[in-house]
Amino acid sequence: MNTTALVAAFVVLVSGLIWIGTQSNDTDWAGNRNQCVGGCYEEWKAENGGNIAAVEQTKQAALAAASPEALGEKYYGQCIACHGGRGEGGIGPMLAGQAAADIVAKLTAYRAGKERGAQSAMMYPVAKPMTDADLNNIAAFVATL
Ligand code: HEC
Repeated sequence: MNTTALVAAFVVLVSGLIWIGTQSNDTDWAGNRNQCVGGCYEEWKAENGGNIAAVEQTKQAALAAASPEALGEKYYGQCIACHGGRGEGGIGPMLAGQAAADIVAKLTAYRAGKERGAQSAMMYPVAKPMTDADLNNIAAFVATL
């Protein structure tokens, strides 16, 4: 079989599928069934305390008002597996009891790709995406442990 025959066969197949698709349309179809308008949206607003913009604003306000400790605690979720829920250590060293300035300095070093201990490579991908604010929040939270 040459290429032209293959292409022709493919075109016939696709056309056939499109034709079958047009023949099997659901006549009751009334558009997007996932929509939530009218009564559905009113219900959603009542449940969530406002329209979508208001809900988002409330979230943003809560985030802006959150203390560094609270934000740090949230971020610390991804550290628990290695440093323990109370910073007691495990795969990674114990963090509890360390001064905030030390935590910031150590994380800054990892973020810059500097080698500290033998297992620094485990911390590089963790520290890389952290912003200065993240470092300070984490340090503030660790200081409470
Ligand atoms: C995959 C496991 C793993 C995860 C996840 C992890 N760490 Fe680590 N962490 C380590 C290891 C291992 C070391 C020791 C690295 C070395 O030898 O320098 C370390 C070292 C540290 C140190 C230096 C501690 C010291 O006293 O020398 C700090 C601070 C730290 N991690 C903070 C964090 C924070 C904050 C997070 C979460 C955002 C986190 N780590 C997530 C494994 C991990």
